[in-house]
Amino acid sequence: MFNRLVMFFCVIGAFSSWSVQAEDGAPRDAAQIVGEVCVGCHGVDGNAMVLGAPKLGGQKADYIAKSLMDYKTGIRNNAVMSAFSSALSAAEMEALGKYFEIQDSTLSVPK
Ligand code: HEC
Repeated sequence: MFNRLVMFFCVIGAFSSWSVQAEDGAPRDAAQIVGEVCVGCHGVDGNAMVLGAPKLGGQKADYIAKSLMDYKTGIRNNAVMSAFSSALSAAEMEALGKYFEIQDSTLSVPK
């Protein structure tokens, strides 16, 4: 558990300069958000890169969007995901859900 925490804080540090809002305030493309932010833990195709990060590839779009909103509003409580979802708009959450839903869910995940 301790090792996982260390890993998460290292990744958070790597992304700490990140901001999801485009400079003009327009929602950003899901693939761009994933490539810049989520990839470090969930992988570009939603196949988790680190222990403890759930697999998102092939997961239902609505479930992903709802999970992100639940982290943002505090219904789901997780320090890592609360931080990363707080900068996402509802439209971006929906786009991210659709992005991950169509990813290949058959690839192997780290044990
Ligand atoms: C630093 C690592 C890290 C990053 C970066 C990260 N996540 Fe997560 N994510 C996690 C962890 C750990 C969990 C499990 C949290 C929990 O136990 O509720 C999680 C959970 C989730 C869940 C819930 C999955 C489920 O099965 O309930 C979704 C959806 C999700 N993340 C989407 C994203 C998206 C979209 C991004 C990019 C904006 C992102 N995450 C960035 C680590 C990360």
